[in-house]
Amino acid sequence: MLQEMGVAVWWPAADAVPIANQQLPAPQEAPSSQPPEAIASRAQTAISAAPLIGALPSDERHGRIARMHWPDLQQAVHQCQDCGLCAQRKNTVFGTGPTSVAGSTGAPTPVDWLVVGEAPGEQEDLRGIPFVGPAGQLLDNMLKAVRLRGAGEPALGRQQGIYITNVIKCRPPGNRNPQAAEIAQCLPYLARQISLLQPRLILALGRFAADALLMGSQPGVSQMPLGKLRGQVYAYQGIPVVVSYHPAYLLRNPPDKAKAWADLCLAVQVYQEKTG
Ligand code: URA
Repeated sequence: MLQEMGVAVWWPAADAVPIANQQLPAPQEAPSSQPPEAIASRAQTAISAAPLIGALPSDERHGRIARMHWPDLQQAVHQCQDCGLCAQRKNTVFGTGPTSVAGSTGAPTPVDWLVVGEAPGEQEDLRGIPFVGPAGQLLDNMLKAVRLRGAGEPALGRQQGIYITNVIKCRPPGNRNPQAAEIAQCLPYLARQISLLQPRLILALGRFAADALLMGSQPGVSQMPLGKLRGQVYAYQGIPVVVSYHPAYLLRNPPDKAKAWADLCLAVQVYQEKTG
């Protein structure tokens, strides 16, 4: 699989990278075997009594989102009209991953990794599922090549402990870059997803994910080239963050797939050091 991707394979030395954070989240449960379509459909239809928050002052809106449980958060995103992107979207794209639910918050568990991309593209907008177009196929292939717990273990994937979402939950028209105001409105949703999922590791794919996750802890992050940000371990609210290239960039720049594979190896190493 890696050869097909054009990736030269090596494995990093066990002692190569320090872990940014030592906090351990909850133990994991068995993953679900439901297909991504079923999960997205659940996400789109999991309607509960989430309050309308668009009319609230910004601080109050953020506070309300920060206290939402998973079903209300899904609904809040599903019906969000708090920036101009709602006008042209066909679907909101909340995220996809394991469907077994834990505790009173209703959040899926277990989540070994959270993968954060930029924003839905055309295919994602049509289907309501993140990373289902060409960039998503590359991402899936790379994740399938990862074995978190040793050679005999199942590959990673959307149903195997990985939750996939984006900084922005609606498609920017023509796949343009998200604007600052759109990001500001959407970030509280991502922040709440992270606090409910409590992933053991976050993989930030591309400029917008890196900025969104690191701006609180890395001054000047948005001025740093992505090539300089990758290769290190950061932390978001105590959760290790590894930055890598966006798969759409890798499709345009295949030689950098090797660096992206090294980033995945780093992520595996950090995860394994953290979980023992
Ligand atoms: N690119 C992204 O960043 N996210 C998607 O869901 C699809 C393409």
